[in-house]
Amino acid sequence: MYSEKDFPRTTREKHKAVNKEIKLNEDDVLITKTDKSGRIEECNDNFLKISQYTRDEAIGEPHNIVRHPDMPKAIFYYMWKTINSGRNFTGLVKNLAKDGKYYWVVTDFDIQKDEMGKSTGFIAYRSKAKHQAIKLIELIYAEMKEIEWREDMEASYNFLLELLTEQGVTYNEFIEKVVKGEITTETLQGKITPPTPLQRIGKFLS
Ligand SMILES: Cc1cc2nc3c(=O)[nH]c(=O)nc-3n(C[C@H](O)[C@H](O)[C@H](O)COP(=O)(O)O)c2cc1C
Repeated sequence: MYSEKDFPRTTREKHKAVNKEIKLNEDDVLITKTDKSGRIEECNDNFLKISQYTRDEAIGEPHNIVRHPDMPKAIFYYMWKTINSGRNFTGLVKNLAKDGKYYWVVTDFDIQKDEMGKSTGFIAYRSKAKHQAIKLIELIYAEMKEIEWREDMEASYNFLLELLTEQGVTYNEFIEKVVKGEITTETLQGKITPPTPLQRIGKFLS
């Protein structure tokens, strides 16, 4: 159930999300280079192949062309805060391909700097995310989306920070542990309560 405002304009007009996964190969690496505002300047063939854009369609576009409506706003808020302060962000991200299908990736960033140390842009490296990591993060993101529907982005951001504080980790460390299987759904038992289908319908109708 997606809200209109969750689709970036370009994506909203062209593509609707469909619940079908594009599975990446173990050695797939999807790379994009952006300016400081997240506009795509360069990308590799794998990014184009999986996202189903031609180079001409992708270059010059804001990176939210691959933004999936299931992704909480607060994750991108956290991402921008982190990379704008010159730190890497390791994220588990669900992306939207042009045909509406989705793919999950673990993303790492390189911060590009000029000789004065000022950031000039970013490079993102994405690889296949493990199934067990996706299953756990899906629960967290669903809860965050629910909070964003019910309240706002700030509340969902605070939910994330509380979860990280309880685990004594940053988001990057959290994702690294989730990917290694050191944090599992069992670790977080009782801390995440995915909304029931009825709650979702109730929210949608209200
Ligand atoms: C180098 C770089 C790579 C990015 N990669 C992605 C990505 O793979 N998927 C995505 O949804 N957003 C990505 N973003 C974030 C987008 O720029 C954007 O903030 C996000 O899609 C949220 O869209 P919105 O600002 O329209 O809500 C990236 C940003 C940068 C700087």
